[in-house]
Amino acid sequence: INKRKLLVAGNWKMNGTRSLVKEFIKDFDTKFLSSMDVALCPPSILIAEFSEGRIPVGAQDVSACDNGAHTGDLSVSMLNDFECKYCIVGHSERRDDHGESSELVAEKAAKLIEAGITPIICCGEPLSVREAGKVNEYVEAQLKAVFDRIPVSQLGDAVIAYEPIWAIGTGVTASPQEAQDVHAFIRQFIASYDGKLADSMQILYGGSVKPDNAKELFGQADIDGGLIGGASLKAKDFNAICQAA
Ligand code: G3P
Repeated sequence: INKRKLLVAGNWKMNGTRSLVKEFIKDFDTKFLSSMDVALCPPSILIAEFSEGRIPVGAQDVSACDNGAHTGDLSVSMLNDFECKYCIVGHSERRDDHGESSELVAEKAAKLIEAGITPIICCGEPLSVREAGKVNEYVEAQLKAVFDRIPVSQLGDAVIAYEPIWAIGTGVTASPQEAQDVHAFIRQFIASYDGKLADSMQILYGGSVKPDNAKELFGQADIDGGLIGGASLKAKDFNAICQAA
């Protein structure tokens, strides 16, 4: 199969220190940068610390507003000022902790695309939805908000990440087949808008990806890499996951 280029992105969430960044930059194996897409998304206060390394950096969230009176928020122009290549939007932890709706997530993604930053748009169901057999409907509703808001002609640079909530930070991964089934569904959903876009869009899997399960997950036809939480905090593990890709 003619698969897309793989992307392995680390999401440090609310973890890390300046010294961890230094250590990570020292231990990350830059050979991966030539064969695949790699990104690291630390807490925003650490983004500047990555400027001395070669690892493409991303943010974990952004405001949908322009610069101005929005205490505590960061704008797309600020992310551009620090050369952020990527920005995660709609992570389930932000949807839960901050009540973010799919419409707001779509607004943020639109803002990023306009600013030339690649949004990593997250979707994924809680356990109750999986148990009720409604995964596809749930994920489709989350993504539909994005496709309703942004014309497909502008979505060429966007990335989607499927993260089943029950697999995040739990050590329980979706089986490669369970993940592949949802990824195939997402690709089919994109194809209902634009076949070419469906072929080219990177769809990442997130949820307890580790060095020992990465290869099998990334080997699935519709899984184009991963969004890595816990295992991205150690360069050794992150290198091993890049190696698996
Ligand atoms: O965004 C990545 C994520 O939610 C997965 O976290 O720790 O299960 O790899 P983790």
